[in-house]
Amino acid sequence: MTGTATSELPDLPREGPADDVPVLECKGLDVGYGKLTVARDITFALQPRKVLTILGPNGAGKTTLLMTLAGFLAPRGGTITLNGEQVKGSSPRRVNQAGLVLVPDFRALFTELTPIQNLKLAAPRGTDLEPVLTLFPALQRREKLRVADLSGGEQQMLAIARALVQSPKLLLIDEMSMGLAPVAVEALMPVIRRVADEHGASVIMVEQHVQLALEVADEAMVLVHGSVVLSGSAETYRDDTSAVESAYMSGSVSSG
Ligand SMILES: Nc1ncnc2c1ncn2[C@@H]1O[C@H](COP(=O)(O)OP(=O)(O)O)[C@@H](O)[C@H]1O
Ligand SMILES: [Mg+2]
Repeated sequence: MTGTATSELPDLPREGPADDVPVLECKGLDVGYGKLTVARDITFALQPRKVLTILGPNGAGKTTLLMTLAGFLAPRGGTITLNGEQVKGSSPRRVNQAGLVLVPDFRALFTELTPIQNLKLAAPRGTDLEPVLTLFPALQRREKLRVADLSGGEQQMLAIARALVQSPKLLLIDEMSMGLAPVAVEALMPVIRRVADEHGASVIMVEQHVQLALEVADEAMVLVHGSVVLSGSAETYRDDTSAVESAYMSGSVSSG
C-alpha cells in the first residue's frame, strides 16, 4: 500500500539456528592477572543482536573482564563459549577470527593518518566502507583531516567505525564516553543500538553513564568489587535506576 507512509525498517529475519545460539556465554568465569583474581563467578549469556551494558564503579574489574573475553588474559576459572564453541586458552587472534572485536578505552588510533586510512588498515581487503561511514555523518565530513585534529567524540566514532569494518559478531566497547562531553555521548548511544539492529552485531558496552546506557541496552549487569551484584533486563531499570544505584553501594557490604 503506497498510501501508508512509514519510515520504519522491515523486520530483520529472526528465524534460523544462528539466532538460538548465544553469541557469547560465560559460566562461572573468574578473571584476573597472574595469581590475582579481580572478578569472580561471572555467568551470563548474550543473544545475537542484543546489547549488554556492564556498569559499576572504578576498579570493579570491568576492563579485566573485557580483556579476558578478547583473549588478552587467560581466564582463571570457568568457561567462555563463543558462537557455541568453548574458547580454549587465550588468543586475541583466534577470538578475533571468531568475530569478536574490542574497542579499548584508549582507542588506539593512528593519529597521524586520516580516518579513512585508519579504516582501510583495519578492514579486510576490498571491504566497502560506505555502510559503516553512513552511521557517522560527522566523520564523513572530516574524511581528509588527520585523526589528531578530530574532536574526542569524532575519534571515538572512528574507533567504533574501525571495529565495525571488521564485521564483528560481537563488539566489546570499553568506556566509550571516557573524556567526552555529555552531548557527544548522547550522539553515540543511538549508534550502538543501530550496530545491533542494522549491522547484526551483539554489543557489550562498559559504561559510566548509567541512564544513557540503559536507554539503548537490552540487558544490564552491575559489577562491584569483582562480583556481579545485579543483572537483568535494562528496561526494568530504565525508569527507576534506584536498584542500580543501591547495587553500586552494595559493594561496600561483603556478602561472604
Ligand atoms: N595489569 C594489572 N595487573 C594487576 N592488577 C591490575 C592490572 N590492571 C588492573 N588491575 C587491578 O584489577 C582491578 C580491576 O581493574 P579494572 O578491570 O581496570 O577495573 P574497572 O575497569 O572496572 O575500573 C583493580 O583493582 C586494578 O587495580
Ligand atoms: Mg575500566
